[in-house]
Amino acid sequence: MALWGGRFNQGPAESVAALSRSVDFDWRLAPYDIRVNIAHLAGLVAGGVIPAESGEKIRAGLVALGQEIDAGAFSFNDSDEDVHSAIERGLISKIGEIGGFIRAGRSRNDLVVTDFKLYLIDHLLEVASGLSALVAAINVQADLHQGSVAPGFTHLQHAQPINFGHELAKHSHALLRDIDRIGDWLERNSISPLGAGALSGSSLAPEPELTAEALGFIAAHGNSIDAVSDRDFAAEALFIFAMIGIHLSRIGEEFTLWSTTEFNWAILDDAYSTGSSIMPQKKNPDIAELARGKSGRLIGNLTGLLVVLKGLPFAYNRDLQEDKEPIFDSVETLLILLPAVIGMIATTKFRSDRMVSGALAGHSLATEIADYLARAGVPFSQAHEAAGACVKLCDSKGIELNELSDAEFAQINSKLPGEVRQHLTAEGAIASRNSIMGTATESLINQLAELGQENSQAQRWIESERERFSGMMNL
Ligand code: ARG
Repeated sequence: MALWGGRFNQGPAESVAALSRSVDFDWRLAPYDIRVNIAHLAGLVAGGVIPAESGEKIRAGLVALGQEIDAGAFSFNDSDEDVHSAIERGLISKIGEIGGFIRAGRSRNDLVVTDFKLYLIDHLLEVASGLSALVAAINVQADLHQGSVAPGFTHLQHAQPINFGHELAKHSHALLRDIDRIGDWLERNSISPLGAGALSGSSLAPEPELTAEALGFIAAHGNSIDAVSDRDFAAEALFIFAMIGIHLSRIGEEFTLWSTTEFNWAILDDAYSTGSSIMPQKKNPDIAELARGKSGRLIGNLTGLLVVLKGLPFAYNRDLQEDKEPIFDSVETLLILLPAVIGMIATTKFRSDRMVSGALAGHSLATEIADYLARAGVPFSQAHEAAGACVKLCDSKGIELNELSDAEFAQINSKLPGEVRQHLTAEGAIASRNSIMGTATESLINQLAELGQENSQAQRWIESERERFSGMMNL
């Protein structure tokens, strides 16, 4: 059903209708559109625009339509341009022409952006909940590996030994930041555009604060022109989704690498691996690779919307219809990806025997020699030189640092006694880094306790935010 046409001599050409039509994707907004219409209707009744009795009929019609939509009994058809026209058609066919009152005092311009924000509030919280489950899965594995010695890398070259639990736990910090970003988004963006009308506000629905409150928003928007034009919230959400995608991609890269024969640190569960159609022996880390690959579209969705917004005049322009598909795609991509990544991490068996065997490769304890000298009062520049000379000597003799003789140490630097050898163990190097953020096991135990608390706090927060915004779903 078209929501306009009075001033036209003919309807749109077929190609125009096809181009213009958004209902195939914006139907996802239907449950929110029903709720926004109900809140708007209450405003119209309170303002005396619609008599209470008619208001009750329309409300009952909207509620019944909402139930049919939830049950899949009502949907859009070929004649509908967008979700708003489909719902108005459904309402009128249910309760008659009286349904047409609902359009008073609002425009699709404020309606669509209000629906869209409600969709995002709902789905950002769903993504946050998936992230929290992922953090929990990572923390369990990190806990299992609190004492596993592994090589740590910089430039993908052996650098210093680390605790493998520490290596895993780093991801939880990044993902908790993502949840935090969702919290920031909600604080900044949970303001209601409804009441902006086409662009200038509405004379028929003059109390946007009331509809804002009824929908569960924190407040009403302060400027009607900005209210219908603002898509910062969509771009910010796409940035959050892209950042999550990047975090998952980096996890994916590690698992891909760790499951190679060369590394052989991680044995992926059969349920979270795939085979090859030609090479019967293959077991491939496709979940990890998809986690890495999906980041491409998540980043693309962000850049796509930013380009749409650049240079766009205020207020509503049809270009803004292009805001929805990137968001739906990013949300749906993450909601399908997160459970698979969680399962992969939860079921992976890590081979600490393999990790420890490589922990000292590449003279990864050279920093211990430099640190020893620094503690003995040698300027670090000289300490670094001396440790480098030890590495050079070892390489020329084909031996390890702890195989240098007392005389060789002393010759390199007089402040370097054979006793330095006591410091040349991976366990010692790890244990000595016992600051709050260090890789020592005692630090890691505290870190994991902290992460567990932060994650429980995040879970409680998600529940309370669901509660806080539940008004929008319980009309
Ligand atoms: N389908 C449109 C969108 O998503 C709804 C708003 C249409 N408004 C208009 N003035 N044509 O943006």
